[in-house]
Amino acid sequence: MPHSGSLATDAAALEQFAADVKYYLSLAPPQLPSRYFYDDLGSALFDTICRLPWYTITRAETRLLAAHGADIFRCALAVTDIIELGPGSGEKLKILLAGLPRASGASRAAHLVDVSPAALASAAQTIGVLPDVHVVTHQATYDAGLREAASAVAGRTLVAFLGSNIGNFDAPGAAAFLQNVRACLAEGDALLLGVDLVKPERRLLLAYDDPLGVTAAFNKNLLLRINRELGAGIDLDGFSHRAVWNGAQSRVEMHLVARSDQSIRIPRAQVDIHLQAGDVIWTESSYKYGPEKVKSLLESCGFRPTAQWIDRDDDFALTMAEAL
Ligand code: AVJ
Repeated sequence: MPHSGSLATDAAALEQFAADVKYYLSLAPPQLPSRYFYDDLGSALFDTICRLPWYTITRAETRLLAAHGADIFRCALAVTDIIELGPGSGEKLKILLAGLPRASGASRAAHLVDVSPAALASAAQTIGVLPDVHVVTHQATYDAGLREAASAVAGRTLVAFLGSNIGNFDAPGAAAFLQNVRACLAEGDALLLGVDLVKPERRLLLAYDDPLGVTAAFNKNLLLRINRELGAGIDLDGFSHRAVWNGAQSRVEMHLVARSDQSIRIPRAQVDIHLQAGDVIWTESSYKYGPEKVKSLLESCGFRPTAQWIDRDDDFALTMAEAL
């Protein structure tokens, strides 16, 4: 399996992690970037979250992909190559690829872009069982990996950005991201975007603060990772997991709340901060959209929405768009 990476060495990735931790913890309120959730354990915890009855994104999207696979490629004629940003376990890409028509003699390529080697390995394995699909992995951030993948593809390209991963961006970040995707594509290429929709607060809070405590473990694993990789000794029991719905901003926020006064010393990131009981570290935002909001966002970023499929049971939308 060909492999190319922009995070050239583990040492460079560790240095970036340390620099980000130092910067984000210095903000008010202190933050940690959600992309660092996904080490080996974090990726496994996320896979578990996707199986929880209260977390509906993965199942809703999988149902839509299975039901509308053929329609998706009717909207994106002549696609030969798929680039997926953040493929996770690869199960959704496998369903998507099953619907990709095979022109005789033409080869199909699947480019997987993820910062997590564990996620790339499991996705590559899942996709590897399909005949005649050339799998290329890019261990990189979305921006760098997409640029790399887009310059490697030969034919019509479909970029898949699924699982409501776009929800981690704030409004300017989402627009900048989509404009960058557009800039990497040629006119007529396509984008398939999976977005979780606004739903009653009670359901959102159960999805992000589940009764089994898996999401709490996923959140606290960030502290465990900082302890291990950056030489800190943060007391995991000193923090509780909290999910709140911020209706004004249309986002679920995940916090780690100090249960008592906490001193955080992170030697390899030159961090020495003190939190009082009740202070928070803000670890994630998951923005929720309305179906029309998704289309207008795409339109403002150089795409023309061509189709939208909505799962009404779990309020989730898949939107297909063409690069203009
Ligand atoms: C993978 C970013 C889409 O925001 O729903 C799951 C991550 N966080 N439970 C999301 C997550 C808490 C997930 N995304």
